[in-house]
Amino acid sequence: MLKVLKAVAAAAGLNFEFTSYDLGGERYLRTGDTLPDSVIDELRGFNAIYLGAIGHPQVKPGILEKGILLKLRFTLDQYINLRPVILYPGVDTPLKDKGPEEINFIVVRENTEGLYAGAGGFLRYNTPDEVATQESINTRKGVDRCLRFAFELTRKRNQAKKLTLCGKTNVLTYAFDLWERAFKAMAVEYPDITTDYAHVDATCMWMVKNPEWFDVIVTDNMFGDIITDLGAMIQGGMGVAAGGNINPAGVSMFEPIGGSAPKYTGKNVINPIAAIAAAQMMLDHLGEARAAAAVETGIKTVVAQHLKSLSAGKMGYRTTEVGDLVARYAVASLGG
Ligand code: IPM
Ligand code: MG
Repeated sequence: MLKVLKAVAAAAGLNFEFTSYDLGGERYLRTGDTLPDSVIDELRGFNAIYLGAIGHPQVKPGILEKGILLKLRFTLDQYINLRPVILYPGVDTPLKDKGPEEINFIVVRENTEGLYAGAGGFLRYNTPDEVATQESINTRKGVDRCLRFAFELTRKRNQAKKLTLCGKTNVLTYAFDLWERAFKAMAVEYPDITTDYAHVDATCMWMVKNPEWFDVIVTDNMFGDIITDLGAMIQGGMGVAAGGNINPAGVSMFEPIGGSAPKYTGKNVINPIAAIAAAQMMLDHLGEARAAAAVETGIKTVVAQHLKSLSAGKMGYRTTEVGDLVARYAVASLGG
């Protein structure tokens, strides 16, 4: 990803300054800390943050996720998690009769509340009478700012101009009652946008059966987590799925949405497209539309003309070779 970004930046006449932070499993095992507050303070000062995937086979699940990823999202108030689902040309999908025309939507996932807020607790911990609760926190302000972003994005995309609220109003009758009321109230301000509602389970079904029904989907944190893994699969796999954690008024952070896949560490076999596509989203967010478009051209050309598969070890190329190819086509499209 750095290679492509640097090549495109040079060809597009952009000047990036990079600062690296040693965060993650290795550091945690060495020092016992995940993310010092001083680092967060420094990160506030950057134009954007690029996060490599985190995870380590020797670290208990939850420590790095909560200590680094979720902590960054929450403290930097990156209240939107933006995750495009795009079928690149030439890519095989389980939905074989659907093509790039039919699979092109984006999920706006609320990113700081819901079940992720950490509300709940244990009663009679580790006894036969144990009770564990985990509550979904939905604030009107938090829901409204997420919906606002989604309506504005739907307008800006200017495609089907359709915004679907994905919820579970039939069961989660408090949380999604709030979401639905807020959604309907805001829809009045956007007469140009068609609004729609789907339960989360039906959303999953239609994402596979009729993905062309979707333009923008807005949903809460937990459902957004789940449906974007499905989204990653219908666009060909985790190897191409990128996302952005957006604070429209602060520092945003971009990442491949899959995990770190430790079994492939150092093998030079994983697909770097997801990481590169996250850099493309970052360029777009920074207002560098031309450079972003060049990266997109690079990705599309490489998946259409070179990769035999999007899966690790089956691409027909090494990770570094894929990066080289994307960089080459991206730069060429800029006339470099
Ligand atoms: C994601 C991941 C994270 C989440 C985990 C690693 C905490 O699944 O970015 O979708 O649940 O948000
Ligand atoms: Mg997830």
